[in-house]
Amino acid sequence: MKDLFGKALVDYQNGNYVEDIITSTTISDDDILPLPYLFRDFKTMPLLEQKALELAHGKVLDVGCGAGSHSLWLQDKGLNVKAIDISPGAIEVAKRRGVVHAEKKDILNEKERFDTILLLMNGTGIFQKMDRLERYLQHLKTLLNAKGQILIDSSDIRYMYEDDCASGSYFEVLKTQRTYYGELDYYLSYKGEYELPINWLYLDFDTLKAACTNVGLTCEFILEGTHFDYLARLF
Ligand SMILES: C[S@@+](CC[C@H](N)C(=O)[O-])C[C@H]1O[C@@H](n2cnc3c(N)ncnc32)[C@H](O)[C@@H]1O
Repeated sequence: MKDLFGKALVDYQNGNYVEDIITSTTISDDDILPLPYLFRDFKTMPLLEQKALELAHGKVLDVGCGAGSHSLWLQDKGLNVKAIDISPGAIEVAKRRGVVHAEKKDILNEKERFDTILLLMNGTGIFQKMDRLERYLQHLKTLLNAKGQILIDSSDIRYMYEDDCASGSYFEVLKTQRTYYGELDYYLSYKGEYELPINWLYLDFDTLKAACTNVGLTCEFILEGTHFDYLARLF
């Protein structure tokens, strides 16, 4: 990993904001990810994220914290928050913005227990692929205190295959291969440099719920977003 995501966050934090991140996927063209969005405050967060923050209680783990926006809000409310991310740049920025407990760590290496685990901004993406989904859910379950909860958002991206013929026929190919349509390759570039492609998983609610049932977690639908997205609570 070149950590271009982290480099962009560090640039923004240093006041060197000249370009945004460009992303694309297997089935979508270039899209702009504006850097200021990654530094959003509560007012500019989507309702799904606001709801997740309001539901958070006790000792919280913010998984894939990025610039630490969610952690900072919770910390200001007096909650005990630990923020983790695999991006060194993200952790540097989260710390510089004031996140007290921020650590460069992969979720699979986390061992502490928490009352609330947050995975936000398409949190299921971190699971990468369907064949890793239950392994991640099993692991997250081991990190929960009694009465603990996981708050996670995702999107049903079925609509992305309905927009044009090319992606429509790709959807049919995926069906014959029995490949889940939410498994995408995700490409990111910043200032002319290209990150290594990553696997990123979008999950419709029923598929997430079925996987939760398989690992002994209950999956509750909390809120629908404005664009095929939703917030779920697992416990
Ligand atoms: C879409 S960004 C979301 C950032 C932040 N939660 C937000 O809402 O602004 C996903 C983040 O997850 C991090 N990440 C990806 N895989 C991870 C893993 N296995 N463990 C911890 N963090 C991970 C990435 O480095 C990135 O910062």
